[in-house]
Amino acid sequence: MASRIIPVDVFDLVIFGGTGDLARRKILPSLLRRFRAGQMPKDARIIACARSPLDDAGYREAAAAAIAEFAGPEREDAALVAAFLGRLHYVTVDVTGDAGWPELAALMRPDAVRAFYFSVKPSLFGPIAERLHLRGIADADSRIVVEKPFGRDLASAHALNAALAEHFAERQIYRIDHYLGKETVQNLMAVRFANMLFEPLWNNHYIDHVQITVAETVGVAGRGSYYDGAGAMRDMVQNHLMQLLCLTAMEPPARFESDMVHDEKLKVIRALQPVPPSDIVFGQYAAGPDPSYREDVSNPESATESFIAMRCTIGTWRWAGVPFYLRTGKRLKARSSEIAVVFQKLGHRIFGESMESHRNVLSIRLQPNDGIDLQVTVKERGPGGMRLIDMPLDLTFADMAADQGEAAVDAYERLIMDVIRGDQTLFMRGDEVEAAWAWTDPILAACAEHDRKPQLYEQGSSGPDDALMLLHRDGRRWREIKG
Ligand code: BG6
Repeated sequence: MASRIIPVDVFDLVIFGGTGDLARRKILPSLLRRFRAGQMPKDARIIACARSPLDDAGYREAAAAAIAEFAGPEREDAALVAAFLGRLHYVTVDVTGDAGWPELAALMRPDAVRAFYFSVKPSLFGPIAERLHLRGIADADSRIVVEKPFGRDLASAHALNAALAEHFAERQIYRIDHYLGKETVQNLMAVRFANMLFEPLWNNHYIDHVQITVAETVGVAGRGSYYDGAGAMRDMVQNHLMQLLCLTAMEPPARFESDMVHDEKLKVIRALQPVPPSDIVFGQYAAGPDPSYREDVSNPESATESFIAMRCTIGTWRWAGVPFYLRTGKRLKARSSEIAVVFQKLGHRIFGESMESHRNVLSIRLQPNDGIDLQVTVKERGPGGMRLIDMPLDLTFADMAADQGEAAVDAYERLIMDVIRGDQTLFMRGDEVEAAWAWTDPILAACAEHDRKPQLYEQGSSGPDDALMLLHRDGRRWREIKG
């Protein structure tokens, strides 16, 4: 089969925070895979910058260790890894001072795409952007990549946007939300906008409600100081779940072009209605086989939520009266993320009351086994009358990839290549991030005012009991969290 991989232009990718966790776990292993696939050109370079006094050889050694620990099977290919390591360089840079910047400037090639990955804490975004600009290292075509957390409220996000905007145009800024790089998230757009079948039904005439679940089995050990100041609302809902909600709810853009997609997502965020504290449940994992949340964050008094469930509504003609139930949490029974679109009951039941429990559900699974299944009601095989059962029409994308001889592409692989290509579709625009905070801030403030405390939940469960009640009281049920 002919390769469908189109190499990107030759690039110099500078990673600030090049010795940090994200670079080791995600950025380097992702680039190695793109290098193996032939998408990263042989003369592209990765220039890591950090404070440690390393040289190229020292950094290559550290990168080799990261690859050995975090890369996939490609790490076994010694010749490939050696060739990849040869593309790495290192410059010791003081990002808030003067040291290292002339050396970095001298390394950059005039004819390569320049991308600068800010894999550092947000307080350093401004100082780095300023130095890149003032020292002429970034040009009008350069791209900068920033990671979450992009602020912790509207004011801080606005300040970060303003600091970046002083030196870079919006078309140069790539704000990563790695959920947008997941295969199924893009497939959600394909399913919605490339089929006749779904779009006519995609509204409050046919859809009863939507459930978006991102369940994790991991706890927060090791990230306690960040997480305890954030909680599930800021860490997951304001960004990842919000993006999933937007792609599910947005109007079809006129074309699949970055700004048109962003415009439609922004309209959804702006149409989200305030969520009263009574429609939110906070949870915190208790001690179980693993330490409790409070032990993990070393804060015996912590009232931060490691779980949240909420009922959201979107004030538009399409979605009036259709609740979007969101839930996410740590140390739950399985790692499972999905968007489930639950269709309404039939208006008239020719098969009698047994129809009551049957419904069509379109479920878009992000992980594990990314894919889509459509629950369809059919007659059970065999004699004995018209017994109805629900069967899934199952499209597992992992199987498709295996049939085509391709390994699944990690979100970071796709997103970094999009940066080099100059395609911002799968990134967050500045106004989107601010709108998401503008919705989040009053919700958190109202919960604080009502002194909403997290309810303890068992490790390995589906979250606190009150989360079940949130749907029960509407006469609905959560879908089971299955790995
Ligand atoms: C990160 C959050 O953005 O996403 C983490 O900060 C979370 O708390 C992670 O665990 C989940 O990502 P994924 O890809 O494993 O679902």
